[in-house]
Amino acid sequence: MYFYVAIDIMKMYNNYILIFGGDVVITYNKEKQIFKLDTKNTSYIIGFLRDRLLLNLYYGKKLKDFDYNLSDLSVHGRSLTSVEAGLEGAGQGEIHSLDFSTFGNADLRLPTLHLKYADGSMVSCFKYRNHKIYAGKPLLKGLPATYVEDDSEADTLELELFDELQKVSVTLIYTAFNNIDAIARSIRVKNEGENQVQIARIMSATIDMQSAAMDYDFLHLDGAWARERFVRRQPIYKGNQEIYSRRGISSPHHNPFFAMVRKDATELNGEVYGFNLIYSGNFTAGIECDVYDTTRAYIGINPFTFNWELESGDEFQSPEAILTYSIEGISGMSRIFHKLYRTRLCRGKFRDTQRYALINNWEGTYFNFTEEKLIDIAKKGAEIGLDLMVLDDGWFGRRNDDKSSLGDWFVNKEKLPNGLDGLAEKINAIGMKFGLWFEPEMVSPDSDLFRAHPDWAIQAKGRASSLGRNQLVLDLSRNEVCDYIIDVITDVLSNANIEYVKWDMNRSFSEFWSFGLDSEHQGELCHRYVLGLYRVMETLTSRFPNILWEGCASGGGRFDGGILYYMPQIWTSDCSDAGERMRIQYGTSICYPLSAMGSHISAVPNHQTGRECTLATRGDIATMGQFGYELDMSKMSDEELAQAKEQVKFYKKYGEVFHKGDLYRLRSPFDGNEAVMEFISEDKNTVILNYANRLCTINNAVVIVKLAGLDPDAIYTEVEGHIGNNTFSNMVTVGREYSGEFLMNYGLKFTNQRDFQTTIRIFVKK
Ligand code: DGJ
Repeated sequence: MYFYVAIDIMKMYNNYILIFGGDVVITYNKEKQIFKLDTKNTSYIIGFLRDRLLLNLYYGKKLKDFDYNLSDLSVHGRSLTSVEAGLEGAGQGEIHSLDFSTFGNADLRLPTLHLKYADGSMVSCFKYRNHKIYAGKPLLKGLPATYVEDDSEADTLELELFDELQKVSVTLIYTAFNNIDAIARSIRVKNEGENQVQIARIMSATIDMQSAAMDYDFLHLDGAWARERFVRRQPIYKGNQEIYSRRGISSPHHNPFFAMVRKDATELNGEVYGFNLIYSGNFTAGIECDVYDTTRAYIGINPFTFNWELESGDEFQSPEAILTYSIEGISGMSRIFHKLYRTRLCRGKFRDTQRYALINNWEGTYFNFTEEKLIDIAKKGAEIGLDLMVLDDGWFGRRNDDKSSLGDWFVNKEKLPNGLDGLAEKINAIGMKFGLWFEPEMVSPDSDLFRAHPDWAIQAKGRASSLGRNQLVLDLSRNEVCDYIIDVITDVLSNANIEYVKWDMNRSFSEFWSFGLDSEHQGELCHRYVLGLYRVMETLTSRFPNILWEGCASGGGRFDGGILYYMPQIWTSDCSDAGERMRIQYGTSICYPLSAMGSHISAVPNHQTGRECTLATRGDIATMGQFGYELDMSKMSDEELAQAKEQVKFYKKYGEVFHKGDLYRLRSPFDGNEAVMEFISEDKNTVILNYANRLCTINNAVVIVKLAGLDPDAIYTEVEGHIGNNTFSNMVTVGREYSGEFLMNYGLKFTNQRDFQTTIRIFVKK
């Protein structure tokens, strides 16, 4: 049982006041006004300069002591920059590394917080007011966030600052996790004055790094529909480099994630700082490198589509940002995010369990299905050992194509004469569970819902509306719209035995305007939408805790930590081609665990690329994620079904190693021809190597892959494996023993014999 010693029973040691939360996580040096936040391997140190500026003093490898005097600060002058009022003798505003900044004083870099006051002023001046340190971690009202199950897992520091003139307080919330090298940060602003205050910009975290920008690369994930989260690593240049979304959703274009990777860092070694925003809407994130090479990293809500009116007495809570630091390279950073998100962001019954292996009818039938057809597919699924059949788009209203009926969530009796309950019963009778697709945030102009409530869609008054996939976005900033969605989906889910839901969202915003907001509050639409969405998701997922929920947005268009808080898995991409998935899943794994990635085997030629990967390759790529099929199974040959049966068995046997194991990325498909990933099970006993090549060139060099993370003194026996197309099975040497030292230093040899060929090799520690 965790024992927390209250703050008033404090031990003085080395001039620090120690706060006990399991291990010591947060310490405070009162004399120097320095706070030291420790995780298992990292330290994050901040301190006040004369109550006025909150400095970032250090973030990196764990330090035992931090013997630092703020008077050590360099005070050399820089012409054409100003000295912060009240800080004379402490150098110009822009030489300091800050952990919190506002606009309008001497520091003119992109600020954490930019407020506009009733008198037209944009100048803020916050000073330390008080702080508290406590065991555990607070929930963020209405927002997804990481959590603890026991207060001993983390300590939290809440630092309160106050602007005396404008009567605004800011609370900076920092949580240091004990056993995971992550710091969670967010900001709460309270208007304690009489007048309205506008929040024009609020970052969840900004941090001025101690290191020179030029020593690092900017790594981020970009893409588009069907090619989500490709890895980009670029040198940092002087100026502001930003990734962002203004599309209403976090989007496939950029992900709310980036890393600062030390120039000499690789996948396996070197310093990497990771930043991720747990948020599903418009975000901004990036690095501002100024002329003195100071580096300000920032992440938060995109100010371009945001302006919040804070009334007297009101508070605003920002989303949560996660900061990580690793000296074990980019894979090391990923393992931190994976562990945190898999165990302390995802929630619910399915968080730790192996998920259903499923068959989804979308690519098999699209809108053209009958009850009989669905049953035929389900029967084949049951034969090969699948758990669940998902009915995708097209089961409601008059939805025979994508031109109508979104919003009318009433079963189409022409297609499903026995209703959803009748269909679910038949599928259950075959021994399969039944799952259903929805796109709750949308409305078709051709729908009863739109005809009844045209003002429920996001549209600009007096202007024509731009359609995306023939549809409009429902205005989830309005409570009545959210309530409608909750009621109508509750109704469907209560009237049939539905055990899985796929929650889709298929367009970006346009004509940003709400009929539900007055002119002063239109700038709040996008964030209010996200808050509405989170309320709907929270209500439905807690009302139906036995349903497995999967997020989706035209594939992986909203693959973020916000959704993972409500739904433990997300459809990774509408590109189901194994050759492209080699890259998409590899890129997604930079921040998100394999347990979060929906991944299916589809038919060949692939519907998106026309490529014909073997069934074995398609299986080897899909079994790494949350596995399923997405084709007309009734058209598979007996030979294919027999192979599929083996794939399901393989997934059920080894899925947990991919999902819960430690990931080491050994070769990047963004740098070369291969995507090679190694997974080490939680108990460290099973090691799986997934070697995937893209194009082969004939008579090529042998590729040697050195494994990582093994026990050098242990013996590993190769127990199982195969080459993608089964032609070269002599290459997998079942029964052979290798030392960990050999595997990590000599490695294993591979040749690329066929395009898009995969090899799986599995080792068990003796
Ligand atoms: C987009 C999704 O990503 C697909 O998987 C499918 O559900 C379609 N929408 C259905 O309209």
